Amino acid sequence: MLVSAKEMLEKAKAGHYAVGQFNINNLEWTKSILQTAQEMNSPVILGVSEGAGKYMCGFKTVAAMVEAMVESLGITVPVALHLDHGTYEGAYKCIEAGFSSIMFDGSHYPIAENIEKTKELVAVCREKGISLEAEVGAIGGEEDGVIGGGEVADPNECKMIADLGVTMLAAGIGNIHGKYPANWAGLRFDTLAAISEKVGQMPLVLHGGTGIPADQIKKAISLGVSKINVNTECQLAFAAATRQYIEAGKDLEGKGFDPRKLLAPGVEAIKATVKEKMELFGSVGKAE
Ligand code: 13P
Repeated sequence: MLVSAKEMLEKAKAGHYAVGQFNINNLEWTKSILQTAQEMNSPVILGVSEGAGKYMCGFKTVAAMVEAMVESLGITVPVALHLDHGTYEGAYKCIEAGFSSIMFDGSHYPIAENIEKTKELVAVCREKGISLEAEVGAIGGEEDGVIGGGEVADPNECKMIADLGVTMLAAGIGNIHGKYPANWAGLRFDTLAAISEKVGQMPLVLHGGTGIPADQIKKAISLGVSKINVNTECQLAFAAATRQYIEAGKDLEGKGFDPRKLLAPGVEAIKATVKEKMELFGSVGKAE
């Protein structure tokens, strides 16, 4: 059964660790992440962007696949199925499809409109027991063809959105999606501390988890971050392992072309990445 992210994130905030959101792209991704979470006895959030949802034949297909997989793999750790950077329309589609958690990203709207739409979704999600993530200050970098400028959130605006009753809040603090440039200045801990002080117990979300150095991850957790999103790092690990397999000519040996063999090194690479992140975030053994 899929669960809302509320309880796992409240526990994470109180216990000073973070739960990983790992984005899924297909069956192999989903299976690797679920199996690793079970092995690590860690709660987990499966993130689905609108583009990935479309790729996987729609949110209904995704929800059906994840629910069936949780059951058939005997997964007992808490699993939330979460819409990542949802539009207003996308949020409603996922609620209907059976997602247990939603992100409505209204960060590109003027703050009044972000508040209005978020408020409406708070009421809908609350009634259905679905967790809701809101965003203030766009995250930089590129995701699904959308390039964000990388804003630093205004702590007062964060407080306004948090007070609407969302479950968790994503705030731009100099983080970006994808690889960080060599001249990246690092996370804005001054802003994070100011936001944390304003929003109190509200779990904060750190997007763009790929490539943030371990010491900055730990500091962010100490300042109230309870959910960390990782996407690109699994993709890079999968691609590198697959490249190695092909370059070694293994697809040309025997039945090496069988997709179950061809994709196996990539699957192991995703598992290793997820395990490493769960260890870094401190969520290992926290499934109870
Ligand atoms: P990365 O791709 O940089 O890990 O970011 C993932 C993310 O924030 C998804 O919302």
